[in-house]
Amino acid sequence: MSKLLNTAVPAVLMTASLGMVSSTVFAADLDGAKLFTEKTCHSCHGKDASTPVVAGYPSIAGQAKEYLAQQIKDIKSGARSNGQTAAMKGVMHLVSDAEIDAIAAYLSTLPYKPGRAVSKAPTKEQAAANTAAASAAASAASTTRTDPVHASGKLHDGTGEKVWMVKGGEREEALHLKPDHDNGIEVFEVCAGCHLTEGWGKPDGTFPQLAGQHQSVLIKQLADIRSKNRDNPTMYPFALPEAIGGTQAMADVTAYISKIPMNPDNGKGEWAEGTPEYEQGKKLYHDNCIKCHGENGEGNAEKFYPLIQGQHYKYMLRQFEWIRDGKRRNANPDMVKQIKGFSDKDMQMVINYVSRIKPPKEKLAPSKDWLNPDYD
Ligand code: HEC
Ligand code: HEC
Ligand code: HEC
Repeated sequence: MSKLLNTAVPAVLMTASLGMVSSTVFAADLDGAKLFTEKTCHSCHGKDASTPVVAGYPSIAGQAKEYLAQQIKDIKSGARSNGQTAAMKGVMHLVSDAEIDAIAAYLSTLPYKPGRAVSKAPTKEQAAANTAAASAAASAASTTRTDPVHASGKLHDGTGEKVWMVKGGEREEALHLKPDHDNGIEVFEVCAGCHLTEGWGKPDGTFPQLAGQHQSVLIKQLADIRSKNRDNPTMYPFALPEAIGGTQAMADVTAYISKIPMNPDNGKGEWAEGTPEYEQGKKLYHDNCIKCHGENGEGNAEKFYPLIQGQHYKYMLRQFEWIRDGKRRNANPDMVKQIKGFSDKDMQMVINYVSRIKPPKEKLAPSKDWLNPDYD
């Protein structure tokens, strides 16, 4: 080996040989326990790998490492594919083969336990309290319509007309409940598995920044994901009452998230201020987006328009493209119309501009090294 490294081998050959070695030698050097949490596995499978977030997800502790590694690789490649694997597939690009082997080796050392979900579904008393608070809220808001989304699972207003958002339902219930800060912290812990304890998500766009988002927007998105009106298989289990609790818990966690200070160093597009692309993006923003997302991307809490300033470029680009192309089903139809004619380049330029709008100082964490003191 050292002889090989000392001779002038072509770079390609060297990478190839190192690549081969990495899955055998390096896997043993990797810390499987650390990777298990770093790569979000614990959020679905539980810290001990056998208390999954929802019943029906497997216990993965104490099985043979060969079996485990093969299952993970098959789920990653798509060779094992069913309705449930979709949730896990959404994070599989985060792990290499060597990392999978290291995690599998770690899991095989844990004591085997049959999987058992820890249900956070509200108790009868909590459910009754929720209902009472909700009907008070509903009469205060004099909501006359029932909520067809929850009644039928479809987004129609009863006349056959497709609507962006219907009145009432869980979303409005949650908005009217008084949030419990401590429970918000507790519920957010599982979310932090992917969105991080700071709620900052990842600049590579895998996980959006949630910190600082309007509570109303967070509630709408969670309710949409829960009612399968926004397709998000990876997030879906975490929007279920079984995982986070009932409407009160939804109010608690979203109120908490909306107050976390934002990442001062979000992922940005490639064009710095002053470049023609930046300027063109700014113009596109002013002509097409201000009326809903505001002068500085601050959104509008009352109208459920998201805050987009300070969000990661790659996440926004993906959402924008899905909204343009009709893949994000809960998208606002007026936004879809507004951006229909956008080319891919227009899209990149306007999102580049948005990613470079700095949120006001009072919304930002003091530095990019800030750690959330609620979790230490
Ligand atoms: C978003 C939720 C989610 C995340 C995150 C997740 N998994 Fe899974 N995992 C699942 C689900 C659901 C299944 C069951 C799939 C099925 O029904 O075929 C599963 C199945 C598995 C299995 C197969 C178990 C068996 O007995 O066949 C293994 C092993 C596994 N996961 C390991 C991991 C590892 C390692 C990670 C992190 C790199 C991870 N999972 C991340 C949801 C998730
Ligand atoms: C296993 C990983 C994972 C966990 C755990 C997780 N999420 Fe997510 N979440 C995602 C992904 C991935 C997306 C983006 C999906 C997309 O691109 O549409 C997302 C998107 C969201 C969005 C939409 C954001 C927006 O800007 O529209 C909200 C709100 C959200 N998550 C809240 C939560 C909450 C609250 C929890 C905990 C109860 C949670 N998430 C737990 C992976 C996760
Ligand atoms: C008619 C109002 C409207 C206009 C105009 C509009 N948007 Fe939106 N936008 C929305 C709403 C509402 C949502 C959330 C959709 C939903 O309910 O899921 C959204 C979502 C988004 C998202 C995803 C945010 C997230 O956190 O997931 C991005 C990015 C975005 N808009 C960018 C833009 C840009 C850039 C423009 C201009 C080119 C624009 N929008 C024009 C109303 C609008």
